[in-house]
Amino acid sequence: MDDTTPDIADIRQGSRFLLRESSSTRPAIWRVEARGTRVVVKDFRNNGFVFRNTVGRFLIWRESKAYRRLKGIQGIPKCYGVIDGISLAVEEIPGRSLENLEQELRLSPSFFDELRNLIGRCHQRGLAHCDLKRAPNTLLGEDGRPYIVDWAASISEREFRFPVLRLIYRRFLLDDRLAVVKLKLRHAPEAVTPEEKACYAYRSSGEKLIRGIRDRLREILQKAA
Ligand SMILES: Nc1ncnc2c1ncn2[C@@H]1O[C@H](COP(=O)(O)OP(=O)(O)O)[C@@H](O)[C@H]1O
Ligand SMILES: [Mg+2]
Repeated sequence: MDDTTPDIADIRQGSRFLLRESSSTRPAIWRVEARGTRVVVKDFRNNGFVFRNTVGRFLIWRESKAYRRLKGIQGIPKCYGVIDGISLAVEEIPGRSLENLEQELRLSPSFFDELRNLIGRCHQRGLAHCDLKRAPNTLLGEDGRPYIVDWAASISEREFRFPVLRLIYRRFLLDDRLAVVKLKLRHAPEAVTPEEKACYAYRSSGEKLIRGIRDRLREILQKAA
């Protein structure tokens, strides 16, 4: 870490600007200026006592663990650490999210090639994101490159290493890749290859079973979130 990298003490003292209020189940999102660096803080501080200390702590712990595993990958924000177990501080990515972006501009096919490669590098580290179908979790940086945030629902290969779980994990990896196809269909449908289309449409009976189990698992995970 260099001189300008803020630590948790800097972030505690930094000036704050609220980007998003907390809701019953969602953390507040703050922008904090610390040591001249903009930090995004995801913060369960104002959520209800029980929620904050169970789900909130669990999600912050999961997400910080994911960021540790992803450290150093271009396209993943740096993680500065956890505050009091209930807030997570990460590097702010200047840019905007992909939510409704197709109404303003069309991203090029090369953006999606880069996004697919980025997801591939995360998968190589043994992590599936599991929530990439939500466009707000992918950002278009000011540099024109893709960034991925919100690793709270991610799962690791290690946790899913036993036989049936391994199949489910593989399905989550595929889901991440299909999420890219879904986003690409909105922005550059002409560049979606026949293989990608086929993959998106393909459902074998074995796949259906795995998807069924996975969807149940996801419901449970999302209820926890
Ligand atoms: N590192 C970041 N840089 C810039 N914007 C971010 C960053 N992290 C989150 N955001 C913005 O805040 C929003 C909510 O953050 P996210 O981690 O997805 O929380 P939630 O779990 O509530 O979905 C994102 O959709 C994105 O717009
Ligand atoms: Mg999100």
